[in-house]
Amino acid sequence: GCGGGGGGSGSGGGDGSITMGFSQVGAESGWRTANTKSVQESAKAAGITLKFSDAQQKQENQIKAIRSYIQQKVDVIAFSPVVESGWDTVLKEAKNAKIPVILTDRAVDSKDTSLYKTFLGSDFVEEGRKAGKWLVEQYKDAKDPVNIVELQGTTGSAPANDRKAGFQEVVGADPKFRIVASQTGDFTRAKGKEVMEAFLKANPDIDVLYAHNDDMGLGAIEAIEGAGKVPGKDIKIITVDAVHDGMQALADGKINYIVECSPLLGPQLMDLAKKVVKNESVPARVVTEETTFTQEQAKTALPSRKY
Ligand code: AHR
Repeated sequence: GCGGGGGGSGSGGGDGSITMGFSQVGAESGWRTANTKSVQESAKAAGITLKFSDAQQKQENQIKAIRSYIQQKVDVIAFSPVVESGWDTVLKEAKNAKIPVILTDRAVDSKDTSLYKTFLGSDFVEEGRKAGKWLVEQYKDAKDPVNIVELQGTTGSAPANDRKAGFQEVVGADPKFRIVASQTGDFTRAKGKEVMEAFLKANPDIDVLYAHNDDMGLGAIEAIEGAGKVPGKDIKIITVDAVHDGMQALADGKINYIVECSPLLGPQLMDLAKKVVKNESVPARVVTEETTFTQEQAKTALPSRKY
């Protein structure tokens, strides 16, 4: 063996230990905080040494972190790409260094799929469709136009692109649904509030808010209340994630429907990491199982939610 085998960086798994470099998007939302906790706790439980960095929603920071993990010769790199495009160069560097890469939560648009071993995460297009289907059902007997405003996630991110596309695909089939405004709120509460304030000023007649995550929806609730309207009644609200604060607002009647997106990816990520380090085959895509919540379902589910 590997004398001294201290399990430090670049041990190459020679003494059985694995070092993972993980580049996180940031700390923009309750979802992200829960995801970080899941990754950190699962690494510990799996005996994997974790090098963790927070990119503060900036791609350049993620590229720097990945390069530093390559330099440190970690055994496996996992990351949640803030945006979809622009990864080929750094992923080729990892491949040349023979360090396997796992995508978690968000996808890249690289044509060369040999640049990563697997992609673990939700089907964001399906999440958008679920949001749209609920809306279509709610307004199935309505004759008047339904004015929708949309708070998009981080521009260029997979969840923003896909949640928009899936929703559009469903509501676009009926011209009574009109998306009258759509702008990014960067997945944060503060931005969600700010952009919703602007939406309310420009559009006197908003029926529905579709927010790509709970946090932006929660910020928007403050804006709606500030404008003297009742969230959940005057303006119907659909969000994605089902983090604790979102579920509370749903149970309280301020949100009308939440499409779940699970942040608890840690255990599956560690299992996949162990396999790719041993050069075992893994599925190219691992999709997270998810559900949806109405207000009644939220009341029942809240006490046992893990995040
Ligand atoms: O990539 C997942 C998304 O990122 C979550 O839905 C959102 O809350 C987070 O910021």
